[in-house]
Amino acid sequence: MADRPPPLSSRRGFIKSGLIGAATLASGLAARAAGGEEVITEIQDWNRYPGDGVDARPYGKPSQFEAHVVRRNVPWLTSDTISSVNFTPLHELDGIITPNGLCFERHHAGIAEIDPAAYRLMINGLVERPLVFTLADLKRFPRENRVYFLECAANSGMEWRGAQLNGCQFTHGMVHCVMYTGVRLRHLLDEAGLKSEGKWLLAEGADASAMTRSIPMEKALDDCMVAFAMNGEALRPEQGYPVRLVVPGWEGNMWVKWLRRLEVGDQPWQHREETSKYTDLLANGKARRFTWLMDVKSVITSPSPQAPITHGKGPLVLTGLAWSGNGIIKRVDVSVDGGRNWKTARLDGPSLPMALHRFYHEFDWDGSELFLQSRAIDEKGFVQPTKEALRAARGPNSIYHNNGIQTWHVNKDGVIENVEIS
Ligand code: MTE
Ligand code: CO
Repeated sequence: MADRPPPLSSRRGFIKSGLIGAATLASGLAARAAGGEEVITEIQDWNRYPGDGVDARPYGKPSQFEAHVVRRNVPWLTSDTISSVNFTPLHELDGIITPNGLCFERHHAGIAEIDPAAYRLMINGLVERPLVFTLADLKRFPRENRVYFLECAANSGMEWRGAQLNGCQFTHGMVHCVMYTGVRLRHLLDEAGLKSEGKWLLAEGADASAMTRSIPMEKALDDCMVAFAMNGEALRPEQGYPVRLVVPGWEGNMWVKWLRRLEVGDQPWQHREETSKYTDLLANGKARRFTWLMDVKSVITSPSPQAPITHGKGPLVLTGLAWSGNGIIKRVDVSVDGGRNWKTARLDGPSLPMALHRFYHEFDWDGSELFLQSRAIDEKGFVQPTKEALRAARGPNSIYHNNGIQTWHVNKDGVIENVEIS
């Protein structure tokens, strides 16, 4: 075993390769002159020794050098980690699909670990035939594949009173976007036979929080899905394995995980406050009650506080995400001077209704300080508001449904901070 290479991190080649990230650009070129860099002129260990065989990684994981790309929680936010939340590392991702292992998690009583053989979904209430489905039963209905974002109504909620958390993972990371495979809720309700008085649906989870939500029948019959797969594989336990409800464009709280029962009724139910109260307090002390649709929103994911500019002046790729519960994103504008001047960003990748959209804006950074902002406009013409406009409408004590424009301050060293400007 004498010729076995030492562990990667202690190898000379790897330590030197750190230089790649630190080198500064020669005037405006996004590349460097050839020669003088050992990582390309010298043979590296990975070029010299054979690697793991095909039986070493039966379920693949990201490279060991990506170990920092993880969901994170904010310990002071909740009193325990059972009824809590962690956040998608948006600043490390690209494209529009969130990898399954990085989708933020929001549970009210931890992760339910359900044996699929013991999984049942019941439909009762105002139906001709109360029914119970096994997972295999659900898989005998026609399937559909749809890409949707899921955003918690509390996303950006900590930012209502002012800039609070330093990173888009924490300010905007209660959103993810995956491709769901499942069956239309409509098919299951048809099978049970809806009675004409059935105007509301109660969705109940099988976790210890026994979370319930009322969903208007119109939405249930329109585009809701009962999903059993995400991004091509079975749902993850964190996301409701084996079955969750998909309520496109509407607040994440309604997307009941570990779905066990659907009851048809003639009016909305009374719900326990701590699991289902996502009403918005207004400036006059009144509250907006049924605000299910997630409004048009966007955020620059890089550069951002957790993704500072480390390459110095010259070509810079600014990128971010935009989404709307109203459908597709029509346009995203970007400002580098705090909203005085706007440029249209470049949307790239699939543009799907109620899914994340990816935008880019390439420019030459001259090394001066910047105030980065993005502003999304959806297909219905809704324009993402400023935080000031939101506060004027709802007062300073709201928490939910904060879709205000985010500002990142970039200093001359490329260090970035969450700020508010007026
Ligand atoms: N469903 C059950 N059964 N229990 C829960 O605690 N949390 C809800 C919703 N569905 C919850 C649930 C909330 S508030 C949100 S934002 C989403 O699930 C989060 O989905 P995710 O964990 O897949 O990101
Ligand atoms: Co939520």
